[in-house]
Amino acid sequence: MRILAIDTSCDETAAAVTEERTILSNIIWSQASAHAKFGGVMPALAQRMHKERIDWVIEKAMTKANTSWKEIGLIAVTEGPGLAIALEVGIKKAKELASIYGIPVAGINHIEGHLLSPLAKSAKVFSSSLGLVVSGGHTELVLMEGIGRYKILAQTQDDALGEALDKGARMLGLGYPGGRVLEKIAKEGNSKKYPLPLPMAGREDANSWSYSGLKTSFYRLITSMGGHELLNRQQTVDLAAAFQARAFEHLTRVMKKSILQLDFKPQELLVGGGVAANIELRKKLREAGKELGIRVRFPYTKGLVGDNAAMIGVVAGIKLQSGFAFDQTELSRIDRKPRWSIEAV
Ligand code: KG4
Ligand code: ZN
Repeated sequence: MRILAIDTSCDETAAAVTEERTILSNIIWSQASAHAKFGGVMPALAQRMHKERIDWVIEKAMTKANTSWKEIGLIAVTEGPGLAIALEVGIKKAKELASIYGIPVAGINHIEGHLLSPLAKSAKVFSSSLGLVVSGGHTELVLMEGIGRYKILAQTQDDALGEALDKGARMLGLGYPGGRVLEKIAKEGNSKKYPLPLPMAGREDANSWSYSGLKTSFYRLITSMGGHELLNRQQTVDLAAAFQARAFEHLTRVMKKSILQLDFKPQELLVGGGVAANIELRKKLREAGKELGIRVRFPYTKGLVGDNAAMIGVVAGIKLQSGFAFDQTELSRIDRKPRWSIEAV
């Protein structure tokens, strides 16, 4: 069965056509440049831009997948978490199309999309796994006992990893969102040049991350050097490398501790979310996986890493494969859920 998937949870207007775990098209209209001058996502602007682009991304996804409405058996739409007025645009459109064409709608959790994104294209039967989502809004280690049966093992007390990287990048004057730029320049830097404290060093709590202390130390260090405007290129790249290395070290240390606390040995770790695009982070997570004897899996293509609708279609496809059924009565129940926890799926 072909699925039309829609995600408008944040600042990407996205639509995709999928079939089981295969991606037939994956269209993403990014609004990032429009929000950049504000240094963050402006909800009202996001909503307006989603409204302007939603029909265009859907049409493009259908054309690219060479699919007619007759072939679409389900519309999968992100219900949350995300910005309420942004989510609303995708949900309204999904309901409208569902009524016109008489197709059922499935409401999907955005975090579940990131968590299951490494399963796209794989034929593997879903079995108990660990999932790690590292995005701009979430940093969560999740025990996935089965489809829809999720338990959060660790989460952040303050900033998400992507958010912390974006703030660190902003302190260096690198613009917004800065995670990707930070990665690029960190490659040229020496991460040991500037000592930054490792959050909770030696007394990590297995269930939580915290990035506020690291951010404060980074801010003080830059201020003591006269502010980012006075930094030369070498100083900037060394600082970027130090901040990124510490942020990742903290991520993997807490993660390892949480996994070692389990009373069984997980087979695999599925990693999704925007920060999973980072090559250095992938390396660190693979190393951690090797130490723990766990296979680490990432999405097979870049289009599945940042926000996208294909991952929403993949979740719906996996649910169908697992025996879930969606009918038109779901339609009235579907509503935006800005703070929808993965545990309440
Ligand atoms: O999953 P995502 O696209 O949106 C959310 O659901 O939040 O994640 C966006 C986050 C941003 O913080 C962005 O800076 C970060 O992912 N990001 C990266 C990289 N690419 C995107 N962080 C580090 N390295 C990257 N290459
Ligand atoms: Zn996301």
